[in-house]
Amino acid sequence: MRIVSGIQPTGQLHLGNYLGAIRNWVRMQDELPEGAECLFFLADMHAISMPHDPAALRAGTLELAAALVACGIDPARSILFNQAQVPQHAELQWLLNGTARMGWLSRMTQFKDKSGKNREGASVALFTYPVLQAADVLLYQATHVPVGEDQKQHLELARDIAQKFNNDFASEDAPVFTLPDPIIPPAAARIMSLRDGSAKMSKSDPSDMSRINLTDSADEVMKKVKKAKTDPEPLPAESAGLAGRPEALNLVTIYAALTDSSVDRVLAEHAGQGFGAFKPKLGERLVEVLAPITARFTQLLDDRAALGQVLADGADRARDLARPTLEQAYSALGMVR
Ligand code: TRP
Repeated sequence: MRIVSGIQPTGQLHLGNYLGAIRNWVRMQDELPEGAECLFFLADMHAISMPHDPAALRAGTLELAAALVACGIDPARSILFNQAQVPQHAELQWLLNGTARMGWLSRMTQFKDKSGKNREGASVALFTYPVLQAADVLLYQATHVPVGEDQKQHLELARDIAQKFNNDFASEDAPVFTLPDPIIPPAAARIMSLRDGSAKMSKSDPSDMSRINLTDSADEVMKKVKKAKTDPEPLPAESAGLAGRPEALNLVTIYAALTDSSVDRVLAEHAGQGFGAFKPKLGERLVEVLAPITARFTQLLDDRAALGQVLADGADRARDLARPTLEQAYSALGMVR
């Protein structure tokens, strides 16, 4: 079993990233069976597919590395690195570009969404982004890839590429690539905006009040929770009573995730309470979970040399794991090395 996943170092980390993705990574790491391995990387090479600011990317990469460690990714147990320090990702992408089909990439919904009406002006990297993502996981013979629902299509593409490459260039008993399975976190981890229960909590929302950042102070967290949009109704006794109340559902979902409970259990315990009573409890629980992460994050960012060393060590280990598969791919394609 080998788990591989990546996250783009663009912008601030917030509660949605933590509960939706990072906490799952930490749990997988902590519950890993004997002999299994996790690789987590910062997808800085993916970040140039959209207009970007180099200084912000540099700062964002170090901040994200610090945030992941602060959240519990242990660089001694998991391999933590950034893509740009492992050139094998780019090399394998080029090799896979021979196998990926234009038609497959044209059907990727993320490309259609992000390029919008300006397809001609979109970068080539935005179009071939899913091939780099395939290289990211195939390079390490990943068996499992934890991703959000929105990345499932990219994972299916990685499987299609692996399958076609194996069919075209390898013998049946010695495939070059392993077909990875996606792991989609439970729906309960979908955290929505505090201002609009129908929009995902997002770093690109112009209103900072819409999200809890991992760097928010306790006061800011309390203020954001108290100002979160809700309705005047009290909490129902079961989840059916939250139908048509997306903001109420979101706050209960967050509370359930933070207390390792379920929406139904939280409702059973708080039935009849209004948000005047529920919000302070939620705020306190949030502060309890986030305060140690924020403190550790600040500490890690204060020692840039140590943080750089963590990434350098992770990249060393990643390159060692990547080399054999890359060589097999070159060889299967008939390249003289
Ligand atoms: N595309 C992913 C996202 O935006 C990030 C990513 C890049 C990734 N490479 C990956 C995720 C490989 C899983 C595996 O969320």
